[in-house]
Amino acid sequence: MSQLFTPYSIGPLQLENRIVIAPMCTYSAEDGHATDWHRIHLGQLAFSGAGLLIIEATAIEPEGRISPADLGLWSDSTAAALGDVLKSVRKYSAMPIAIQLAHAGRKAGSAPPWLPAQRGDWQTVAPSAQAFNDIDAAPAALDSAGLQRVLQGFVSAAQRAHRIGIDAIEIHAAHGYLLHQFLSPLSNLRTDEYGGSPENRMRFPLAVFDAVRESVPTSMPVGIRISATDWVAGGWDIEQSVVLAQALAKRDCAFIHVSSGGLSPLQAITPTPNYQVPLAARIRSESGLPTIAVGMVTEAEQAEAIIANGHADMVGVARVMLYNPHWPWHAAAKLGAQISAPPQYWRSHPVGMHPLFKPSAITA
Ligand SMILES: Cc1cc2nc3c(=O)[nH]c(=O)nc-3n(C[C@H](O)[C@H](O)[C@H](O)COP(=O)(O)O)c2cc1C
Repeated sequence: MSQLFTPYSIGPLQLENRIVIAPMCTYSAEDGHATDWHRIHLGQLAFSGAGLLIIEATAIEPEGRISPADLGLWSDSTAAALGDVLKSVRKYSAMPIAIQLAHAGRKAGSAPPWLPAQRGDWQTVAPSAQAFNDIDAAPAALDSAGLQRVLQGFVSAAQRAHRIGIDAIEIHAAHGYLLHQFLSPLSNLRTDEYGGSPENRMRFPLAVFDAVRESVPTSMPVGIRISATDWVAGGWDIEQSVVLAQALAKRDCAFIHVSSGGLSPLQAITPTPNYQVPLAARIRSESGLPTIAVGMVTEAEQAEAIIANGHADMVGVARVMLYNPHWPWHAAAKLGAQISAPPQYWRSHPVGMHPLFKPSAITA
């Protein structure tokens, strides 16, 4: 009996299995608006049978975009565009869908990877006026009005996500973006109540979490993604991450998605299969929070072992889902499990194999 394919609940949201499609920017929005690209791309992923699909980093204000082509949820028209896409996807898939709400802070305004000339031309903001590297312009340090604006941006985006029928929210506090910039002593040089001690550095990210949690009904799970370490001596690390996770556990946090790195160009890191799993396992055991492990998980047996060994409650998969969008089907086939797929595809099932597909809830 596969453990990866046992159901799981995050709050009131039922997942058919423990496979989570991790958020991935696709740099294909127009002024923050979802396009036909998202309809096709998210539609494809929604046929994969994964337990949860997390939509890519979605900016809570235009200046918070990693690139000018990022998805946004800062206005009624960006919400309408994404809502329209969701309507199409939902017509044919019952997969729960979460969204990652994000602000890139000092890392905002970079060019999409394949469009190097299309950098953003706006002033970036951050906890402190310190650039990510020697090439980038310095961000402006957020004052109290700026902090309030960003917090309200997360709240409004969360409410829009709820209004358009998104099932869950993941707050992006990883990969060196704004909330991570507050957590790390390498990027947060503030001397007010938001800088200095670990407690102070956690204050703004926790305030954002609390405000988002309060702004949507309890039926909508709110979780968080963190980088559990900067991989730089003297930076944010696993010990501080455990303290943050324990604070989140007291706040009705539905899950913690454990990634790492992205804060500093000095990071010393050699990614290998499962390299972030020990970080997830430690956070899970010391905070009790439902945990998603992610990072170079590409094999069904590997994902199965992460769940079976109790290292995490869910497994995030990113690049392998782009390479092989039916990865969960193949994982189910290998592990002798069943998976939901649209009936239009049921004849793909190889003759002689165990029954792979379970009847989908939606057969439009
Ligand atoms: C194309 C691409 C886009 C990504 N965009 C995001 C993102 O929007 N938000 C995020 O938290 N991580 C993002 N990531 C990181 C992935 O979610 C994931 O943590 C990482 O790729 C490691 O998992 P993997 O080895 O299964 O790919 C992105 C990764 C890729 C390859």
